[in-house]
Amino acid sequence: MKRLFCFLSVLAVIVAAAQVLTAQDGPTSVQAGVYTDAQAERGEKFFGEACMVCHQPEEFSDGGYLEGWSGQNVNDFVEFVRSTMPEDNPGRLKRREYIDIIAYFFKLNGLPTGETELDRKSLRQIKIEGPYVDASQN
Ligand code: HEC
Repeated sequence: MKRLFCFLSVLAVIVAAAQVLTAQDGPTSVQAGVYTDAQAERGEKFFGEACMVCHQPEEFSDGGYLEGWSGQNVNDFVEFVRSTMPEDNPGRLKRREYIDIIAYFFKLNGLPTGETELDRKSLRQIKIEGPYVDASQN
């Protein structure tokens, strides 16, 4: 009897832990504040160094650009940029730097900042969706 009770308590703990984990794993949205100001600032610096020979921030600022990514997850966007850019040397930057640049793009589209940085672990869970606002002049 004692053993059964022990088994049941362990089971209850496992069920509770699983519930916590699934709650944390639930999909979220770029509207939920998924990057920080400091991260976007780093991204702006990397963009200036590695991308502005060919691009202007305005190309990626009005919702017209991110609109094309609506419904996809942030990981797809990061991997697209990482595997194609810079055009003359794709994948040259560190993954972390590409993620910072994407945070900067989010800033350019007026998406809200939050307390935690966008990181490799969370990318797949975050869906890209509007509304977007052109914030390139700020
Ligand atoms: C040597 C020039 C060059 C550099 C450097 C470069 N790109 Fe590009 N990029 C291009 C060209 C050319 C295209 C395709 C034509 C277009 O859409 O402008 C492109 C397209 C893109 C697109 C897709 C645009 C679309 O219409 O979907 C993104 C996003 C992008 N670049 C991001 C970056 C980022 C981020 C960097 C810096 C890490 C970078 N690029 C560096 C030349 C460059």
